[in-house]
Amino acid sequence: MQNQPVLGIDIGGSGIKGALVDLSAGDFATDRVRIPTPENSTPSALADVVAQIVTEFAGQMGDGPIGVTVPAVVTHGITRSAANIHKSWIDAPAEQIFEDRLGRDVVLVNDADAAGVAEVRYGAAKDNDGLVMVTTLGTGIGSALIYQGVLVPNTELGHLEIDGFDAEKRAAASVRTAENLSYDEYVPRLQRYYETLEALFWPDLIVVGGGVSKHAEKFLPKLKLKTPIVPAVLMNKAGIIGAAALAAEKAAKHHG
Ligand code: BGC
Repeated sequence: MQNQPVLGIDIGGSGIKGALVDLSAGDFATDRVRIPTPENSTPSALADVVAQIVTEFAGQMGDGPIGVTVPAVVTHGITRSAANIHKSWIDAPAEQIFEDRLGRDVVLVNDADAAGVAEVRYGAAKDNDGLVMVTTLGTGIGSALIYQGVLVPNTELGHLEIDGFDAEKRAAASVRTAENLSYDEYVPRLQRYYETLEALFWPDLIVVGGGVSKHAEKFLPKLKLKTPIVPAVLMNKAGIIGAAALAAEKAAKHHG
C-alpha cells in the first residue's frame, strides 16, 4: 500500500478542488483547496489552476503522478468529448498539456470513473466483487462500470438514448432543478433510467452519487428495481480520492 499521500484534483463546472489523499485510509490527508473554475475553461487555462493547487501541496507529497478528473471521455490522455464543458476539450491532448505545465506525471480520468473507483475501493460498494455500476446525478449523468474491482472506463451511460431523449437531459439532477420538479415528479424519470440500465447490464449493485444523493431517502426507496440501489457514501470527496487511487495504481504498474 501507498504510504505517501497522493494529490487528487477534481475539475468541475464551478470549482476545481484538490486534496492530498491517504490511500490506506481512503480519505483526505489534508483540507481541500477550492478555486473557482475560470470562465474560459480551456485545457490550458485549467492547467494554470491545477498548477496553483499543486504548488499548495508540493512540500507534502512525493514526485509520483497526480490524478485529475474531467467531465469528459478520456482515452490515452486525450479528452474526447465535452458535454458540459468548454468545447476546446474535444480531442485535446489534455494530459500532455497538464504534464507540460506541471513538469510531472498526470493521470487524467473521467470524473464518474474516478468517483466509481473510490466507491468500490472505500465506499458504498466496498468489497463488492461483482458488477458494480456507479452513476452520478449532477449537471449531467456520469457512469462507472467496475467488474471484480476493475474499471471499464468511459461508459458514458448518461447519454443512453431512452424514449428519444439523451438520458441526462431528462434525469440529471440539474434538470430536476431547472424544471422545478418535486422529488415525486422526478422519480418516474429515474425509474425509467435505472430500469433501462438494469435491463442492459444486470449489475449486482447500483450506487447513486452526485450532490442529490444527500437526499437519497426522498427518491431511492420509491424506485422499483431488481438490483439493490444505494447512495454513494464518499459524496464530494469521491472524485478526488478515486483520481488519487488511479494515479497511484498507474505509478505502481510502471514501476513493475
Ligand atoms: C459527460 C461525462 C461525465 C458526466 C458527469 C456527462 O455529460 O459526458 O463524461 O462523466 O457528464 O460529469
